[in-house]
Amino acid sequence: MIEQLLAAEVASYEVFEDPPGVTLLSEEEALVRDSVESRRREFTTGRHCARMALARIEFPSDRPILSGPRGEPLWPDQVRGSITHCRGYRAAVVARASEIASVGIDAEPDQPLPDGVLEAVALPEEQARTKELLRSFPGVRWDRMLFSAKESVYKTWFPITRRPLEFEDALIEIDPVGGTFSVRILPQGARGIRNAPERFTGRWTAGKGIVVTAISVTAAERPLDLNPERTPDIHRGVSTA
Ligand SMILES: CC(C)(COP(=O)(O)OP(=O)(O)OC[C@H]1O[C@@H](n2cnc3c(N)ncnc32)[C@H](O)[C@@H]1OP(=O)(O)O)[C@@H](O)C(=O)NCCC(=O)NCCS
Repeated sequence: MIEQLLAAEVASYEVFEDPPGVTLLSEEEALVRDSVESRRREFTTGRHCARMALARIEFPSDRPILSGPRGEPLWPDQVRGSITHCRGYRAAVVARASEIASVGIDAEPDQPLPDGVLEAVALPEEQARTKELLRSFPGVRWDRMLFSAKESVYKTWFPITRRPLEFEDALIEIDPVGGTFSVRILPQGARGIRNAPERFTGRWTAGKGIVVTAISVTAAERPLDLNPERTPDIHRGVSTA
């Protein structure tokens, strides 16, 4: 499902159940040793997908893929990538950093968001559009799609900026026919970040009981000298550098 959503330079690997016999490397195992079984399973299969995707770009895939302080997967320097998992689906995507500046993917069950969540994560105009989509195109849970798109935005944004992004910091418009969505980062989200991305374009799909969204930003769209890589990692003004 995910392959159709990504730039040609991005390799992907997805599964719809946890394959038997997959194990973690010892350094990865330490990250989930005390986690509940469901978390251990999604993490293990996510790392398996990551290694399979890395092999597809002919990148050595025998090194541990650890997690950074904000939960982000720590890819080799020359690689960009993203991982998602939800009930009945796990996927990872990777690309060479020389070709792709950032990529973010997210999968969610194609089920209504719990009561109150749309109001919590969507701007008023997004809520109105979502309700209209639910009326006009009832085959897909557009509230869940919007949520997934926001998660993909964050996973694309964070590796570029090393900064948080709140749900109300990105305005998303989903095209229900064309399979795309547009993202505008609002001024408060980009405040204080040099060369912050202002817009992204993503793609979505739905099927097999899940919705999937993805954003890929090519290196041509975002050359390395636009990336605030030396920006201290701060969380809403509190420096953790
Ligand atoms: C981190 C977050 C995006 C994960 O999304 P999710 O739908 O809960 O879970 P998913 O299974 O799809 O994704 C989990 C994976 O995301 C990746 N991830 C976690 N934090 C990340 C970060 N800061 N940057 C990039 N990827 C990250 C990890 O690979 C993780 O899997 P792993 O721990 O097994 O390696 C979400 O929990 C979160 O914190 N959201 C708040 C921020 C946000 O969405 N803002 C909205 C901006 S418009």
